[in-house]
Amino acid sequence: MNETLKTILSRRSIRRFKEEQIKDEELQAILEAGKFAPSAMNQQPWHFTVVQNKELLQKINEVCRAAFLKSGIKNFEDRAKAENFTIFYNAPTFIIVSADAKAIAPQNDGSLALGYMFLAAESLDIGSCWIHALNLVLTSETGEALKKELGIPEGYIPVGSGAFGYKGIQQPSPAPRKENTVNIIK
Ligand SMILES: Cc1cc2nc3c(=O)[nH]c(=O)nc-3n(C[C@H](O)[C@H](O)[C@H](O)COP(=O)(O)O)c2cc1C
Repeated sequence: MNETLKTILSRRSIRRFKEEQIKDEELQAILEAGKFAPSAMNQQPWHFTVVQNKELLQKINEVCRAAFLKSGIKNFEDRAKAENFTIFYNAPTFIIVSADAKAIAPQNDGSLALGYMFLAAESLDIGSCWIHALNLVLTSETGEALKKELGIPEGYIPVGSGAFGYKGIQQPSPAPRKENTVNIIK
């Protein structure tokens, strides 16, 4: 099997990270991979916000905690009550992908970019995980101030975010993949 396929099959969502920050050149390689994702009409409508600042990471975590606490969803509320609540598993690097709302397919383009970044990270033996909660916060009214602080451009919608860092656990085994999801018509 070639290296690309091996990377695709071996990538897993990683939920425990080392404290040590990833190298700048590794971050740049990950971002470059994101930029080379396909996009509708090649609009490349994305914007990547990279947060490595510990205070800001902590603040994002607390904003998510507050949103969880008043979500009305029991599972979220229970998680948020835990003292060691961490929305991005204490990862040292957090990348938020937003995209121009006026683009043809901002959600699709942004998601692909994030997916490419996950694969690039795996190829460098860097762990990653999609973190959905921030989206819930940023798309709510309470998220407006945070959107500004994060420098998400005006008119851009949050698409998704990813935690990145050196893996703090052994590579998990893959969850079984569903059967009967393919129909090949020849
Ligand atoms: C749109 C999307 C949202 C996700 N949100 C979260 C999340 O908020 N927290 C988390 O730990 N994992 C999240 N994940 C990761 C999935 O749980 C994970 O991809 C899935 O269980 C399959 O495992 P694998 O990535 O190891 O193959 C998300 C994945 C996607 C694609």
